[in-house]
Formats: sequence, C-alpha cells, structure tokens
Amino acid sequence: MMKESKASAELNRIQIRVTPPGPEAKKIVKRDHDVLAKSTKSLPIVARRARGVFVEDVDGNVYLDMASGISVTNLGHVHPRVTARVEEQLRKLWHFAGTDFYYEEQVLAAEELVSVTPGSFRKKVFFTNSGTESNEAAIKIAKAATGKQQFIGFIGGFHGRTQGSLSFTASKPIQKKGFFPSMPGVEHVPFPDPYRNPFGIDGYEEPEELVNRTIDYIDRFVLKTYLPPENVAGFLVEPIQGEGGYVVPPKGFLRSLKKLADENGILLMVDEVQTGFGRTGKFFASEHFGIEPEVLTVAKAIASGIPMGAAIVHERLDFPESGLHSNTFGGNVLASVACIETIRVMKEEKVLDNVNRVGPYLKKRLQELSERYECIGDVRGIGLMLAIDFVRDRKTKEPARELRDRVEYKAFENGLILLSTGQSAIRIIPPLIITEEQADMGVEALERAIKASI
Ligand SMILES: Cc1ncc(COP(=O)(O)O)c(C=O)c1O
Repeated sequence: MMKESKASAELNRIQIRVTPPGPEAKKIVKRDHDVLAKSTKSLPIVARRARGVFVEDVDGNVYLDMASGISVTNLGHVHPRVTARVEEQLRKLWHFAGTDFYYEEQVLAAEELVSVTPGSFRKKVFFTNSGTESNEAAIKIAKAATGKQQFIGFIGGFHGRTQGSLSFTASKPIQKKGFFPSMPGVEHVPFPDPYRNPFGIDGYEEPEELVNRTIDYIDRFVLKTYLPPENVAGFLVEPIQGEGGYVVPPKGFLRSLKKLADENGILLMVDEVQTGFGRTGKFFASEHFGIEPEVLTVAKAIASGIPMGAAIVHERLDFPESGLHSNTFGGNVLASVACIETIRVMKEEKVLDNVNRVGPYLKKRLQELSERYECIGDVRGIGLMLAIDFVRDRKTKEPARELRDRVEYKAFENGLILLSTGQSAIRIIPPLIITEEQADMGVEALERAIKASI
C-alpha cells in the first residue's frame, strides 16, 4: 500500500513543494523503467491522487491538469457521481461477458450513447475497450456491410496502434517504423490543414479553395485515376486531427467529403475518439461540421477513465450474422455504469455550457500569448480542444520542436501538466469542468514556462 504523505495538500491550487521529479517520483520512475515495456512516456510525473482539475504527485506537489489523461477525465478526476455509481456496482456485479450474455447496464449504456450521437436514424452499438479496438470494429463492420476491402485514410491522421487501425495511422514515422506491412488496402490522401498543407494555400484566408483542392485531389487523382470507388468501403477521418497536431479543417470539408462519399457509394467513417464527448463544446465534433456519420467511433472519455470504447453505426450496417465479431470485455458492467453516469452528468450538470464559456475565454488568453511571443505561430482549436504551435519563424512556419519540448518540461516544473501533439504543438485539454480562474492559473504557468524556454 502506498503511504499517504503527511504533507498531503489540498487539491485546489498549484503547489510545488520540491522541484519535480522529487525523490519519491524518481524511485518509481526507475522501477517503472525496469519492469514496464517502453511506450510513449513524456513527463516524469508520478500521480498519487487527483480531484477535479488537480493532480497530486508522490512528493506532495500539486499540478493543474491540462492533459486530462489524454482527453479522458473530461468530467474532472474522480467525479463524485461516477465514483458513487461504480462503487455501488462493485458490490453487485462486475463482469458477465456482455457479448455472450445479457444484463441491463450494457443496454442502458448503449441507449444513453445513441441518445447523444448525431444522426436521425436508428443505430447499433458495438462496445470495445479502447479507441484502436473501436476502429478495428468499424473496419470489420464496413467490410462486412459493403463487401469491399479498400479504404482511404488521411495524412496526419491517428486511429490507434493495432494492425488494422495502424494501417490508417499516419501522424509520425515512429508509429509504423518496422511494422510494415500492416493491413493492406489503405490509401492516404492530404488532410486540409489550414496552417500547413501541401497545396501551399493559406487555409485561414481561403478555406473554400483548400476544401475544393482537397476534394478535387481525392476525386480526380485517386478515385478517377487508380482506386475504383466500387472497391472502396470507406473513408476513415478524424473531424479534427488529434495526434496530428489538433488540426481543424475548414468548416465545409466534412460536408464535402460526405457528399463525395455518398456520390461514390463509400461510407464516411468518423473517428471521434479524441474529439468526442464534449471536448469541442458539443457531444461530438461532427455536429460542428453538419454531418451525421453512419459509422462513428468513440473511446477515451465515454466512461470517465474506466476503459471503454464503441463503434456506433447506422442500424443497416450491423453485422449480417452473429459470430463475425466479438470480444470478452466490451460493455463490461463497471464500464457500462460509468458510461451511463458520465452521460447523465454531462447532460444534467450542463458541462457543455461550461466548455462553450471557458473554451473561447481560454483561446483568447492563448491568442494574447501569441501576440507577446513570436515563437507561437498558431493558436487553434474548438471548445476545450485547443493547441498552440511553436515555430522557428512565423513566415516559414518551420516547426520548433525542441522549444516546444522545453516549454512542456518547464510547465511541468511550474506545476502545469501539458501534452505535446504533432510536430511542434502543445495541446491544451483540461477537464471540461475547468473554471476561468483555473484557466488563468494555467495560462500564467504556461507563460512562465515560455519565458524560461526562449
Ligand atoms: C482519434 C483517435 N483514434 C484512436 C485512438 C486510439 O485510442 P486508444 O489509445 O484508446 O487505442 C486515439 C488515441 O489517442 C485517437 O486520438
């Protein structure tokens, strides 16, 4: 059992008692490295407990969390209602294999989930345990429903790291290094990044031109040149690219892509694993862009940190027969109740209203920072899915990766947890319940980190 430190702090403000990583953190980091396989670790923060937007480490330091466990703890850490519901369930039933047997909690979770998913059609839910597994399910659903095997993904996209979803993932070379061939049959096309795109268009000034050029490229140079639509099952796209750098496409892009997909009998499969569950100020980012995806994947925040994901599809796309796909833990009872309660809290406590109030406020504060610091080339995002991009030179937009990494580390030393994304951006993704005062606290810590890094 881990000892509670006598110096255990109130979790309501940033408090750095010892420059992190402190002595206790260092010991655990070493033990971690001795026994855990390498993954994608970034900062040596060793958490002991958390509440709301604050996290305490094993040395008694308290941090403001602007990473939310990679956009998972959207209701804040250890939300009292979700905690109480899971605790109650722990004494009744934990697991019963919801793919093979029945229990009401899984049904209720699916009912709640479809009630907040865009689309005025009947839907079916396949529960999974992660984002990558949700995309694996979506790929199989698309193949089974269309009888086709080819797909189109986007450069800069991220969809997970198992072999099927990895074949779409294309935001960093390391993700695929040494793992070829992954699932065959995936072609990649450019994503309309308004800030840096292969067409050389300023997408903030000319959004329509950027959309037209992207759609035209896919239509003329891919579908009409070498990839017959009759063989293409689906496009897999993030409404806002997450791991690729928080890239928000021009408003009209997804509607145009849907039109192209419909004209060619191709499914539009939308990965809302990172954009979903209120992060952008609506339950799903698709709602900002006026589309109703027939295939939508989710995970991360849907059960507030109990592992859970889902592929939510138009009823007509359901697997044609039983046995084509299944798993052991999907729709697990504890995950299901956490998901139900998460959705109810989101609705009843008007969490989206807070995102729509604090999100624009925080973005404005970040824009003010960019006016003071030349090294911030771009501030982008919707709701509380925000990012700042560091550049060597505003004209060339050359990514300033080392500076970005220094800022991330200095912020950590100042008691602010941040997470990088893309080549040179830092994402700002606090729990959705953050207040304006707490957002100010974060911006101040960030500014100190920038000053110390340039
Ligand atoms: C858009 C998107 N899809 C899929 C995934 C994969 O999710 P997981 O790590 O739960 O497998 C992620 C993870 O960051 C993601 O951002």
